[in-house]
Amino acid sequence: MAERGPTLAGRLRGCRREGPGEGLSRRDTVRAEKPQDILTSPSCWQHAVLLNRFNYSFELEKDLHFKGYHTLLQGSLPYYPKSLKCYLSRRPHRIPSERHQIGNLKKYYLLNAASLLPVLALELRDGEKVLDLCAAPGGKSIALLQCACPGYLHCNEYDSLRLRWLRQTLESFIPEPLENVIKVSELDGREMGDAQPEKFDKVLVDAPCSNDRSWLFSSDSQKAACRISQRRKLPVLQIELLR
Ligand SMILES: C[S@@+](CC[C@H](N)C(=O)[O-])C[C@H]1O[C@@H](n2cnc3c(N)ncnc32)[C@H](O)[C@@H]1O
Repeated sequence: MAERGPTLAGRLRGCRREGPGEGLSRRDTVRAEKPQDILTSPSCWQHAVLLNRFNYSFELEKDLHFKGYHTLLQGSLPYYPKSLKCYLSRRPHRIPSERHQIGNLKKYYLLNAASLLPVLALELRDGEKVLDLCAAPGGKSIALLQCACPGYLHCNEYDSLRLRWLRQTLESFIPEPLENVIKVSELDGREMGDAQPEKFDKVLVDAPCSNDRSWLFSSDSQKAACRISQRRKLPVLQIELLR
């Protein structure tokens, strides 16, 4: 029987066990006692570093080990492809994001560690046809491509500004030859079933969410009011996208 590692909840709890004894200063120590502490303390957010296998850097991986990063969830899930390399820091630490440079592939993508869970749940295999229905800014599309080589990946995004962001993400992480198996569209996900009668082996629906956690830190009350009114309509949109 495969040995099971700690659960994600266990790893999240793990962040509050850090203490000065492990090389942290008192200021750095994470003081999350309850789940809501994790939501309200950005230092507890699980910033993960997803390595880009299309521009793998041994030096970067070595450096992450040196900085105390550890691999995420490896050995604790039935599906965890070897090609997926994701690292997490045990203490509050964030490495800077890389600048977009035309013609240069990025070495890593920063994401919330929990974002990988739906990607892993999809259990993507080589050659499968997959649809990422709400794809911008593209984190999960990138993560999918670290797991396997799909025969076809369709990335859709309804918001035109965010679509540009999605295109830029794909350009930054995916080598040109792979672009042939990727299609990007700007459709309303609710109408995709009729507009794109192709068949997919798997569909990822990362429906728009309230993003309440980030709004806890916003000081823009006007935007927040607008957000609250949009938030009321969210459940309906989410259900329509899932249908
Ligand atoms: C949670 S975000 C997706 C994050 C993305 N999967 C990632 O990992 O980077 C939800 C996305 O759904 C898009 N969206 C909202 N309404 C949509 C619709 N009707 N059809 C398709 N996408 C929609 C939003 O613009 C937003 O970019």
